[in-house]
Amino acid sequence: MNSRKDSADDRLILGIETSCDETAAAVVSGSGKVLSNVVASQIEIHSRFGGIVPEIASRKHVEAIVPVVDQALTEAGCTIGSLSGIAATQGPGLVGALVVGLSFAKALAFPSGLPLCGVNHIQAHLLSIFLGGEARPAFPFTGLVVSGGHTSLYLVRGPLDMELLGSTRDDAAGEAFDKVAKLLGLPYPGGPVISALAEKGNPDLFRFPRAWLPDSPFDFSFSGLKTAVLQQVKALEESGAELPAEDLCASFQEAVVDVLAEKTIKAAKACGTKDMVAAGGVSANKRLRQVMSERAEEKGLSCFFPPLEYCTDNGAMVAYAGRFMLEEGILLTPDADVYSRLAL
Ligand code: KG4
Ligand code: ZN
Repeated sequence: MNSRKDSADDRLILGIETSCDETAAAVVSGSGKVLSNVVASQIEIHSRFGGIVPEIASRKHVEAIVPVVDQALTEAGCTIGSLSGIAATQGPGLVGALVVGLSFAKALAFPSGLPLCGVNHIQAHLLSIFLGGEARPAFPFTGLVVSGGHTSLYLVRGPLDMELLGSTRDDAAGEAFDKVAKLLGLPYPGGPVISALAEKGNPDLFRFPRAWLPDSPFDFSFSGLKTAVLQQVKALEESGAELPAEDLCASFQEAVVDVLAEKTIKAAKACGTKDMVAAGGVSANKRLRQVMSERAEEKGLSCFFPPLEYCTDNGAMVAYAGRFMLEEGILLTPDADVYSRLAL
């Protein structure tokens, strides 16, 4: 007899995430309690190339997937038999990387008769707000997903009911952090390094451009900002001046944060939601948290951020998103494929 639980809150879901450069697995209960959350980062190998090399990412996922899932089950004190379902990221992301996680999830789920759901990575980031932490937003809320691959605004009406309001036309905010870090000779990923240097810099020393895009106020563009930083760096180098890395980082970060905060608040007002959520790797940024919280308060709005360990890619958010898909019976069949582009 197996020990699968039936109550929605008690049932255990295994979440598998391999959309980019983290091989991650977690066991989460239906109520959002995280029993284990294992992340094998590939940052060290990709940092040698200054960014993610898709082929290497796929190979590393193949190496890591068995030990990572095994560890997640062991730390949660459960076996395949105690699970109620399995959730794997189906997209968007790097195809070769996604295939590893989804194929592994299929191989676990179908022979053991477990339901399998294919989670949208973006939805999972937005639902990470319900993992850990005490303060939780109420539906509907305005959600900003801000990561290395995405910068998008959503009206989130329910766990699986999200409407895209706008997204980036070129670089994602995290990508801009990574590219600016590279041009300053800083390591990958750029976000945490720039954020640390920015703390000691003057955010007003360089006035970098903000792309407000008045014709589509909920869209973003960060490529002009990246080019402006590059031109500033070149001008400083030509003048023989030493690069004021801390001031450049602070001024660049301020421009990104200003745009993200302003557009999210504008979207919240347009949608009439009181609560706003920022999720994804860049939502770990201290200055973003500070500015969004301050500006939200000024407007009588509330801003929520996931605990730091759930900002960057993880299996817990995938498992938790899977909980709602299981409940709705949105399941995958053995022929299901991954998708690389935004499907939401
Ligand atoms: O969500 P994530 O792990 O992966 C994607 O889905 O893309 O986000 C990774 C991105 C990287 O671009 C990284 O530079 C950025 O998040 N990031 C940050 C910070 N921590 C990570 N950006 C700004 N400030 C941070 N503290
Ligand atoms: Zn992500």
